[in-house]
Amino acid sequence: MINIAIDGPAGAGKSTIAKIVAKKMGIIYLDTGAMYRALAYWCLKNNVNVEDEKQVEPLLPDVKMDIVFENGEQQILINGFNTTPFLREHYMSKAASDVSKHGCVRYKLVDLQREFALSHDVVLDGRDIGTFVLPKANCKFFLTAQAEVRATRRKLELEAKGQSVDYEALLKDIIQRDYNDSHREIAPLKQAEDAYFLDTSDLSIEQVADKVIEIVKEKVK
Ligand code: DC
Repeated sequence: MINIAIDGPAGAGKSTIAKIVAKKMGIIYLDTGAMYRALAYWCLKNNVNVEDEKQVEPLLPDVKMDIVFENGEQQILINGFNTTPFLREHYMSKAASDVSKHGCVRYKLVDLQREFALSHDVVLDGRDIGTFVLPKANCKFFLTAQAEVRATRRKLELEAKGQSVDYEALLKDIIQRDYNDSHREIAPLKQAEDAYFLDTSDLSIEQVADKVIEIVKEKVK
């Protein structure tokens, strides 16, 4: 199996790069952040406070998460309900970060991610793929960029979807999310020792994708 792990903070370009790599290599792209977003969405829908593990944990046995692909696009169903259209709303980013710090949530989703990687050639992006989910992945990357660059990218991305968001608020959110994701107790955002480090601040998408594909081809040939 080919398992490619791409980790890094929000807005580093992980999903864009992972999609290109998956397409060029004819393998699946699994967006693990969307799994945390879907679970956070389900909590909010059920009036569960995502910050409170005591409220989140009892909900989990009743959550059946299915990941399916429609025209190559990942869809996350919870108990048959397609959560995908709701996951990229701005407020979902913080909710996902908050819910992702709970051990009960991580173990449930990490099990699903490992199961998926066992049976598919896949590129996964997230925070803990190379360090915790798939420590034996064939190739690991750690993508990052300056917080200001990442905030600008997110602003452009949201604007392209017709949402207008204040740059300063986005920057503040990104800095807070970096802190939360890298300081949580279980499987925090961290570079794996054997991951290839790429600062994408001054690189174009093509440059990053070319570099990643070059390394992947070298490793899996
Ligand atoms: O990549 P993203 O912005 O969609 O991720 C949303 C949140 O989910 C992120 O702030 C932290 C969490 N996450 C995680 O803890 N582990 C992962 N493998 C992926 C995401």
